[in-house]
Parts: sequence; C-alpha cells; structure tokens
Amino acid sequence: MFLPQLLTRAEKGEKLTALTCYDASFARLLAENGIDILLVGDSLGMTVQGHATTLPVTLEQMAYHTDAVARGVAGKAFVVADLPFGSYQRNAEQAFDSAARLMAAGANMVKLEGGAVMVDTVRFLTRRGIPVCAHLGLLPQSVNATGYRAQAREASAATQLFQDASDLEAAGAQMLVLESIPGVLADEVTQHLAIPTIGIGAGPQCNGQVLVLQDLLGLTEKPPRFAKDFMEGAWNIAAAIRNYVASVKAGEFPGPEHGF
Ligand code: KIV
Repeated sequence: MFLPQLLTRAEKGEKLTALTCYDASFARLLAENGIDILLVGDSLGMTVQGHATTLPVTLEQMAYHTDAVARGVAGKAFVVADLPFGSYQRNAEQAFDSAARLMAAGANMVKLEGGAVMVDTVRFLTRRGIPVCAHLGLLPQSVNATGYRAQAREASAATQLFQDASDLEAAGAQMLVLESIPGVLADEVTQHLAIPTIGIGAGPQCNGQVLVLQDLLGLTEKPPRFAKDFMEGAWNIAAAIRNYVASVKAGEFPGPEHGF
C-alpha cells in the first residue's frame, strides 16, 4: 500500500491501527485481520533478539526483517521501517543511504527519532521521495539519557515538543509517532497538525494507535503501562488482533488507565 491510500483513510476520520511486525507470517496475519500499518520496529532488539534496549540493532538486521515483512504483507498494508540507532544521526546523507536500504527492502516509509535536530534530515529525505514518520516523546534510542519514563510532563518540555512537531511537519514528515506523553498534549498536537499522529501511551485522541505485537499477545514479562493483553478473552491470535482493531476504531483503546 502506498502513502496516499493510507492518508485517505485518516482523512476520512478513520482511526489508523498499527502493530509492530518482524516476520512474514505475522505480516500476512496482521494485514488479513485489519491492521493498517505494520511497523518493523527496532523494538525487535528486545522482542526478537533479547537485548535490554534497541541500541544494538543494525541496519542490515532491519533490512532483513523489513524484507520478510514486505513479502508477507504483499501490499495489503502499509510498511514503516525504523532507522536503527547510529544509522541516521550523523547527517542527512548518512540518513539517506540508510533509508534507501530500507526502502529497497520493501518499506513504504522510514521512521526516525528526534525533534529539532532531525528537521533538516527529514527535509532532505522527503524531498528525495522517501516518506518519513517522525517520533517524539519517549525516544527508546535515547534511553541512556532519559530512562524509560513518560516525557513532556513539564510545561517547557511540552512547549518544545509542540514546536518540534510543527517543525517536523513543515519539513515534510507525513506521520508522527507520539510515545509516552500526556494525553492532553497529544490531543493538542493532533488538533494542530494536518498529518496523522499515532499514539503509544499518548491517550485516545491521536489519529491512530500502535502497540508492540508481543505486548498485545501477552508475551511481555513486564508490560508497560500503555500495553494491553488482547489475548485475554480471545480464542486465537487472529481474534486478538481483530479485537485490537475494533477497540481502536471504536475509541475504546487506549483507556484512561493506559495513559499519563
Ligand atoms: O520500535 C518500536 O516498536 C517503536 C514503537 C514503540 C512505536 O518504535
């Protein structure tokens, strides 16, 4: 699926549903059960490889998983691939080379983490035909600096995030992930931007929601506050995915207990 098709769904006011995905079997299952966006997340460093953070994940590993997901999905959903730590932060040229590798592997869009510091890179990539999803709030690649905790809870940080979101959109970003920030702030950003926001621990007002697949499947030992085990009450994985899609589309997930 190409970007215009996805954006049309968002423009109609439909909530977008996203899940992380790392292989062909799940890609097919997720697309067949109504997931709009498959995120080949660098969270695979934890969920697939068993690391404590996303930092050890390499570009070649991301390309390998993106290739598998793209083949499994066969064009039936939109594929976003994470640029891994160290593959894009040096400068826009480095980011282009890395993004090109993931697009050639079958991604429809790349995702990168960061605010003001990424604006020029986003402009460089999008002007060269590479759709970009920005990512603000809790940035897992910066965990050594911030820890895993909710972000932008103080007024000054919230103002900065709002400005970063505007600047990234102006630079050409076509989607924005908001992770672990107050729902009120996510709502303000969503109202302000024309591009879709995708929340994870960012309240119910975003244009869409994303979860880590293993959290949805109840496989995470210590799930984050914003996660929900959709296998509870579902008789198989396909049913759990359909329940997630229905809950997001109906505005029932996330609930107040999943937010900050
Ligand atoms: O890698 C990932 O799973 C992500 C989500 C947390 C949005 O970036």
